[in-house]
Formats: sequence, structure tokens, C-alpha cells
Amino acid sequence: MTDDRLHPASQVVHIGVGQDPLHGAVSTPIYQTVTYQHPGSQLGRYDYSRTENPTRTGLSDGLAVLEGGAGASLFSSGMAAIVALFHLLNHGDHIILTEDLYGGTYRVLVDLFARFGLKASFVDTRDLQQIEAAMTTRTRLIFVETPSNPLLMVTDLAGAADIAHRHGAWLAVDNTFMTPLRQRPFDFGADFVVYSVTKYLSGHNDVLAGALIARTAEHAQKAAAMANATGGVLAPFDAWLVMRGLKTLAVRIDRQEANAQAIAAFLAEHPGVAQVYYPGLADHPGRALHASQSRGPGAMVSFQLKRPDRYADFMDALRLVLPAVSLGGTESLVTHPFNETHREFPEDIRMALGIIPGLMRLSVGLEYVDDLVKDLDRALNAVKG
Ligand SMILES: Cc1ncc(COP(=O)(O)O)c(C=O)c1O
Repeated sequence: MTDDRLHPASQVVHIGVGQDPLHGAVSTPIYQTVTYQHPGSQLGRYDYSRTENPTRTGLSDGLAVLEGGAGASLFSSGMAAIVALFHLLNHGDHIILTEDLYGGTYRVLVDLFARFGLKASFVDTRDLQQIEAAMTTRTRLIFVETPSNPLLMVTDLAGAADIAHRHGAWLAVDNTFMTPLRQRPFDFGADFVVYSVTKYLSGHNDVLAGALIARTAEHAQKAAAMANATGGVLAPFDAWLVMRGLKTLAVRIDRQEANAQAIAAFLAEHPGVAQVYYPGLADHPGRALHASQSRGPGAMVSFQLKRPDRYADFMDALRLVLPAVSLGGTESLVTHPFNETHREFPEDIRMALGIIPGLMRLSVGLEYVDDLVKDLDRALNAVKG
């Protein structure tokens, strides 16, 4: 059972513990069942696993406590959680989003929700005036990533929440890069937090999962009803895998962040690198704002190669860091956003945003930091000429 008086590093360890009154199993049992026997005509607490399942409950209760929210709904992927949030809106409603955000969020709005009458504006949410200027009478949601994917730009959470609430809209934050151990958007007035749980929360590159967490009980109830109605919920075994991964979140994030800080400093000095984006570096323009609303810069580092034409050679020259999409797991991964995670954006928009061919996104893992630095150094030296 998670206790909200404990430090988050203790909370994560105890998520799902104490769920087995029958045998006292410490590891949460996997209730691999669809339905639940009940006496007579009275349904019990659990009746059908699309609605609720005890393994999933262990995880959702724990995540809600960690985040400081009233309730969490769990989905089969981060995209399913984001889609459930958009499903809470109505035909003709308008959303304002961070312009350099995960490509899948852009794609689902432009390719799918536009056909159902939901309108979206992508703006530079670092500038609160741009958010304010984009508000319409139909704006119901401001959706931000901070730091953003892949350029690590920082948005003022309290400022964005204030604008949303003055206009009768909600603020939702995709907190995937940060986790509740580094940033708790509800403390700054956000109404919803979404996660690709696939990333840091599960942490081992072995399970797809998503979460939609609400600050108020009323919104948590709406999200749970939407999860039940649309059905893309998290399977019991996958919920168990996430709980297993979550137990080490605090130690993983500490180590990954320390590795990232050292790697960002190394990259900033390397002759093969034109620019580094990391909120833990002294020259990052959002550093002070990020520090004021988070407990650390996280473990995502983006950088531009001096030789953009040789990005594929750089990736091929790496031996320890794996060229792969995704992030937040134990293994360090390098991604080429221009051709991979952000290819959904039209090319002119990618170029204007700075998602250019030389941009690399590094998810720093748990390997020994000197080995990572050596690997990056060798691959950068191979392509700098
Ligand atoms: C910031 C962010 N949000 C959401 C998603 C989507 O999550 P999933 O892949 O679990 O559907 C991703 C995936 O890369 C992501 O990076």
C-alpha cells in the first residue's frame, strides 16, 4: 500500500505491496481474470476487468499517490492515455499544444481528431503570450510537454495553468520525461497528467503502458469512465511488469540523471558537437524556470552534430549506445528525431522548429558513465572530419 506521508523513494518501492490478504504475498498477485464470481444478484467491487482489475488497481492507486492526484486510469500505451484525454472534449473544441512535442500526439490530432471536429494549434508554449494569443472561446485544453521532446524547451507550468483556468480550460502535462519524482504538475495547478509509462516509470524497455492521472475526483471519474467505454486498458501482467519496474525508479532516475549531467558537459566541449540541449547546463535558456518547478534536469540530452550529413555514420559507429526509438529505459538509446520520432511533422515545420537532420536525442541509461563517454567520443571523432 502506498502511503502519501512517505518520501517518494519509499513510496515507489511499496506500490502494490499488501494486495494479498489470503497469503500475504509481497509481490502483487497477477489477477489473470476477466470476470469475478459474485453472490446472488449483487456485483462485488470487481465485476469485469475492462472496468477494474485488482492488479491494475495496485498500480493506479500508487501512481495517483505519487503524482498527488485523485485517481489514475491505466492504458495499453501512452498514446491510448492521450487519446482518452482528447476524448473528454467535444466536437468544435480547441486545444493549444507545445509545438515541439512527441510526433504521435501531433499525428493523432492532425490525422484523426481533425476529422471529428477537434481543432489544434501548436505554439511556442515557452512564451505565455503566445498561449494567451492563441486562446479562443472554444479552447478547452492546453497541453504541454516540459521539458519538450526533443528540444528540451521549458514551459512555465503555473503560468500556463493560470491562462487555462481564466478561460475555463484545463491544463494537461505530458510528464513522461520527468516522472513524479522530478516534477509534479498538480503542484502548479495542472488538471491532468499523462504518461507514456512505457518510458521511465516501467524503465526496462519491455512493456508498453500509459496513464491518465487527474487532480480532482470528478475528473478521475470521467477518465475512468472513458477508459472503460473505449477499452484500451492495461493488461494485468503488464501492470505487474510496470510495478516491478517502478520499485527501482528512484535509484534509476538518480543514476541516469547523474550520467546525463556528465555526458551533457562532455558533449558541450566536444569539437564534433555544434549545440547541446539539456536543462542542467548553465547556458540552457530555461534552466532557472525548470529548476523552480522540478527536482532535477532528468536524463534526456539532445545535441546537434557539426556534420549533420554524417548522422547515420555516427549512429553506426556507436557500440554501447543503441540506435533505437523510445527512451527512459536501462539501456542508453540514441534517436534521430528528424527521420524517426518526429517524421510526422511536415519537413518545413521540423526545420523551422530546429528538428534538423543533425539533431540527435540521447536517452541516457544506467551503464557506467565512463563507458558511455568513451563510446560517444569514439563515434563523434569518427564523423567530425
Ligand atoms: C513524451 C511522449 N509522450 C507520449 C508518448 C507515447 O507513448 P507510447 O509509445 O507508450 O504510446 C511518447 C512515446 O515515445 C513520448 O515520448
